[in-house]
Amino acid sequence: MMELTHDHLPIHLTNLAQRYGSIYRLQCGNTTMVVLNSSKVIREALVKKWSDFAGRPISYTGNIVSGGGHAISLGDYNEEWRAHRRLVHSALQRCCQKSLHDVIERQAMHLRKVLMDYRGSAVDLSEDFTVAASNVITTLAFGKEYDKSSSELQQLHSCLNEIVALWGSSWISALDSFPLLRKLPNPVFDRLLKEVARRDEIIRRHLNNYKSQDQKNEDAITESLLQGIEKHENEGLLTDVHVHMATVDLLIGGTETTAAWLNWTVAFLMHRPEVQTRVHEELCTVLEGRYPKYSDRHRLPVLCSLISEVLRLRPVAPLAVPHRAIRDSSIAGYFIPKNTVIIPNLFGAHHDPAVWSDPYSFKPERFLEGGGGSSRALIPFGGGARLCLGESVAKMELFLFTAYLLRDFQFVPAESKASLPDLRGVASVVLKVKSYKVVARPRPVTNPRDTVA
Ligand code: HEM
Repeated sequence: MMELTHDHLPIHLTNLAQRYGSIYRLQCGNTTMVVLNSSKVIREALVKKWSDFAGRPISYTGNIVSGGGHAISLGDYNEEWRAHRRLVHSALQRCCQKSLHDVIERQAMHLRKVLMDYRGSAVDLSEDFTVAASNVITTLAFGKEYDKSSSELQQLHSCLNEIVALWGSSWISALDSFPLLRKLPNPVFDRLLKEVARRDEIIRRHLNNYKSQDQKNEDAITESLLQGIEKHENEGLLTDVHVHMATVDLLIGGTETTAAWLNWTVAFLMHRPEVQTRVHEELCTVLEGRYPKYSDRHRLPVLCSLISEVLRLRPVAPLAVPHRAIRDSSIAGYFIPKNTVIIPNLFGAHHDPAVWSDPYSFKPERFLEGGGGSSRALIPFGGGARLCLGESVAKMELFLFTAYLLRDFQFVPAESKASLPDLRGVASVVLKVKSYKVVARPRPVTNPRDTVA
């Protein structure tokens, strides 16, 4: 248990890998956990032997957070889960093809305006990044966006944030490993229950509002989900509860992750301003003044190398989500009995000295030179049956948001070097940078064709 209460668990588990190797076992109460620390062993479990390791731990607290195990992220692998994931995956795909690019462009433009309005003052941008990421999801889900001051949006975020933070706390995880503790008073657990009830109330209100609208939005994910359920294509396995929990999954999975990643990117760039200059120059040369499209990515290798390097150094879901062996199996030749909990340490895999040279340094150029690492070893979204459901949404967001920001702004510290952000991070379920202030200095307009294409 001591091992799991460490304040930066991914770093701690990565350090243990130096002593015990890329796969080792931890005992926590009555739960056996196996930690995987290299992309080779993670791929073996999650991709090659996906059908052995696609389960989720059956957990007392996970069950409460996931509406009785009906969320995709925490639901165990079974027929109902497969139908649920399939339904949401096809709704997302449909909606991505139709409107995702426009939705992200709109939010990127809006973010640009928000930054312009700061007029060079030093600010913490984390909330603006959260609003941008969250608006992408609420627009996809309901066809609805909010501004930062919206009390509805603030309520939703404070409650989702609280749930993620509380659920990651050792007060809560202890209840899973030591059932006897459930009999004792636990104020943190009481708060979690309250926040889950608040979350469900807000999502229910949103879904009811959506259903009562006269004009339905054919592009909205909610519409696809509701239609999918009505058509009974899923042999009655899925109900309104699944639409509700899918909405929670998309909001939780798609907001803090993308926002944390943007925050990390700006923080790293403040430490290496010459990387900003290189990306800006590439954008100017290749795009000749216009704003980028996602299809431009193959012509923007410097920007893509920056995105990959931030995903490598700070995978925002550093320990993914725990998996469970659903039958006896093996990893790297070791016997793994049924019900073993598997922790894919993505942070560890991304800092593996056998794969990455100088693994702790921020060096986007490693992805350009072909040395010091391999893109195959980059696994920020996991893999196999449990691959991040929002991977394609996230990739387009990271690309367009970063391109828009670096085209128009230079990110500099408020005063001296002393105010550069601390890059160690705070690790819970999501790995975040400690809050910092930055000046978003508008770049001089260099091209007369400075219009949105
Ligand atoms: C799961 C990473 C953005 C929705 C995951 C997992 C990782 C991950 C590592 C766990 C995989 C596993 O269990 O092995 C990331 C990163 C993101 C990101 C690095 C952005 C930088 C998003 C977005 C969405 C999303 C934008 C929604 C639109 C989900 C869902 C799951 C998930 C629903 C659960 C999948 C399942 O259990 O089957 N993500 N994610 N994520 N993610 Fe993401």
